[in-house]
Amino acid sequence: MKIARFSRLGFILAAVGSAVGLGNIWKFPYIAGENGGGAFVLIYLVTVLLIGFSILIAEMIIGYKGRKDGISCFESLAPKHKNIWKFAGFQSITGLFIMSFYSVVIGWIFNYIVTSTTSLPSSVQEAEATFTTMLHSDISTQLFYHTLTFLLITFILTKGIKGGIQRLNFILMPTLVIILLGMFAYALTLDAFSQSLEFMFAPKWEKINSGVFITAIGHAFFTLSLGMGAILTYSASMPKNSNLVQNALWITFLDTLIAIVAGLMLFTFLYEYGSSPTKGPGLVFISLPTVFYEMGIIGNFFAVLFFIALAFAGLTSAVSLVEPMIEYFINRFKWSRLKASIYMGLFFYSLGIAALLSNTDAYKELLSFGSKNLFDWIDFFTASVMLPLAGLIMALFVGFAVEKKRVESVVKHQFGALAFSIWYFSLRYITPVAMILLLLSLLEII
Ligand code: PHE
Repeated sequence: MKIARFSRLGFILAAVGSAVGLGNIWKFPYIAGENGGGAFVLIYLVTVLLIGFSILIAEMIIGYKGRKDGISCFESLAPKHKNIWKFAGFQSITGLFIMSFYSVVIGWIFNYIVTSTTSLPSSVQEAEATFTTMLHSDISTQLFYHTLTFLLITFILTKGIKGGIQRLNFILMPTLVIILLGMFAYALTLDAFSQSLEFMFAPKWEKINSGVFITAIGHAFFTLSLGMGAILTYSASMPKNSNLVQNALWITFLDTLIAIVAGLMLFTFLYEYGSSPTKGPGLVFISLPTVFYEMGIIGNFFAVLFFIALAFAGLTSAVSLVEPMIEYFINRFKWSRLKASIYMGLFFYSLGIAALLSNTDAYKELLSFGSKNLFDWIDFFTASVMLPLAGLIMALFVGFAVEKKRVESVVKHQFGALAFSIWYFSLRYITPVAMILLLLSLLEII
């Protein structure tokens, strides 16, 4: 079967589209806020470069050399031990689990786009009440928008790599960048911009502890879309003779840049209008709408634009969460794309309904297990356990199981000899040790 491939730019846009998601615009600012700003940002930048970038290249090599779905790639690159390594390919299923709650959050964002056109909360109390009412008791609104997300994503995926994913990214990504830059330009004109700069870049070392490192490493993974087959699957459709190292640099650079721009902009708005950056996950849904209200009429305009940008970031990541399993069923079971898309869609849709209900007063008891409800369990288990575990496995796979010659043949000339040795060493030793420490530290938290 001939695979429809990305174009060169199409690949970069799609991979950046996958990487730039709710993680950059919603999660990064609030975890930076919670962890004291500057020092956290610095540690995050270092971990993205040292660990994230190493694994990004490894994951790209697996897809690029394997040219198929996740499981087949692992099999074909380690033919002697394929029955063991094929299990590494099952990381693709993580995407469907992430997608179950990701789709619910995209649904909230759609809801916020609609409501922001007419009304914005005038106080934090009001904003908090609006958000928690939606979350805890408004099942029908959440279900409506979750269904819309499911239909939209499934439809795009039925159109395939070129006609669906690539086209979506060609439209949404530039629009997202324009919106963010426009709002960033406005933030630059405000007095609070310097306060925001200081918060993001002046390190407060006293805030640093091992927990901050764990959060930074975990986020480096999530934000680069590593460890669930997304980059791997996209790389399997990369055009021949692509420069993997250059592509990985672009992805890392743009993903980081967008997180920093979004962070600087949000903190400027929050400081300018008397709020603070340490509000946790509600930052975007609670603090920010109040700030937009304070801005007056331009605030409504900004609010709608901001939530559109957030939705776009979410949608381009969402397709990459589901595509790996679609490829798997198409390749291994000869399903049609239509059938695979619908079945995978229904899977995340149904699980998403359960996740959504687990946040509501009516069902939370039924759908909570131990310390967390289903929604939080899926989030925690995928982002904190599954992604780093898959990262560890991929580092060991490319570092030790795939012949060095093969790895060299793809990336050595792209890296240059010295950079290649540094990367290879980091992949074999530094990255696995960091991942193992991360996973061990999680045992304490659970
Ligand atoms: N990178 C995306 C974000 O930052 C999330 C994601 C994780 C997407 C894993 C695909 C795979 O929101």
